[in-house]
Amino acid sequence: MLTCQTRRDFLKTTTALGVSSLLPVSGFSQTVADTVIKRVIPGTSEMMPILGFGSSAAVEVLLKTGPASLTSILETMVKLGASVIDTAPRETDVEQAFGQLLLLPQFKGKLFVNSKVGRNRALNLKRVDKQGGINQIRETERLSQRKPADLILVDTMLDMDLHWPTLQEEKSKGNARYIGYTTSNTVDHEKMEGYMNTHQPDFIQVNYSLLEPEIEQRILPLARDKGIAVMIYTPFGGGEYFKTVKGLTLPDWTAEFDCTSWAQFNLKYILSEPTINCVLTETTKTTNMEENLRAATGRLPDADMRKKMKAHFDTLVKK
Ligand SMILES: NC(=O)c1ccc[n+]([C@@H]2O[C@H](COP(=O)([O-])OP(=O)(O)OC[C@H]3O[C@@H](n4cnc5c(N)ncnc54)[C@H](OP(=O)(O)O)[C@@H]3O)[C@@H](O)[C@H]2O)c1
Repeated sequence: MLTCQTRRDFLKTTTALGVSSLLPVSGFSQTVADTVIKRVIPGTSEMMPILGFGSSAAVEVLLKTGPASLTSILETMVKLGASVIDTAPRETDVEQAFGQLLLLPQFKGKLFVNSKVGRNRALNLKRVDKQGGINQIRETERLSQRKPADLILVDTMLDMDLHWPTLQEEKSKGNARYIGYTTSNTVDHEKMEGYMNTHQPDFIQVNYSLLEPEIEQRILPLARDKGIAVMIYTPFGGGEYFKTVKGLTLPDWTAEFDCTSWAQFNLKYILSEPTINCVLTETTKTTNMEENLRAATGRLPDADMRKKMKAHFDTLVKK
């Protein structure tokens, strides 16, 4: 087991990983059906793999546990053709260490990295002023050595009046390829809908799953009409979903859309909604990442099957 007590130790280990990984990518033979499906980003010709990685928990422990586990998760992603990684401002040492890891040769040119402005959960910083938001962008650029940023988002639409003009300016200067804003809270969907009508983003990030299907009513049709790309996070309700399905047998008919687990049941439901560009799943485990990635390969349910899945899930919730 690796232990990295200091950032210097971490960087030494990271450098070693660039030559040969300490953990092998879990064994699987790759075929065309193993490659994550891609969808076009609206208004562009850029294709985006439909499943990505929400990096918070795995990155928070990076300096304590060392880079091997996270490197293995990312290698599995890249091997299956995925690229999107969700990040946010963190403690300087952690952000720098993660930035170094993303610069390893095996990830070069293969990642699409989201960053955010407006708060810093790791530092329990609830909001920043306009200059503070600009400083966060410059600091992320410096620590991650990534410029232009792929996508910068106003975290939870907090202080949009301060940060949205900043993001527009960053995009016009070529410092950000795409910009947008997030919410993970259903009570803020109406607010998001309002902004989608007045502050045209390239991307929104929003909560959606069998547990929280609300965006089907208004947000997804609006995104489709306005050509806004949609990223989903909190697909498992931070783990709540697994409490509902724990110990239950997966119905036989799920084989019709290449589903082999309850995690995939939920992910395939989400991903079969064609307006969705990418779902971000958070995990600390390579095996779970691989299982999630496989939900984005093979067949997806059609509209009738989606109804059947939802009806079945609703009976489980009521039990
Ligand atoms: N900006 C914002 O407002 C905001 C707010 C919330 C979240 N986010 C982002 O949204 C993303 C998702 O966050 P979330 O915490 O709500 O994550 P989530 O993906 O809904 O749930 C994560 C939980 O599911 C488990 N899990 C994942 N895959 C699994 C599998 N195949 N089988 C069994 N368990 C599995 C994980 O445990 P293991 O580690 O054991 O796999 C973890 O406990 C992240 O990118 C996060 O940074 C952003």
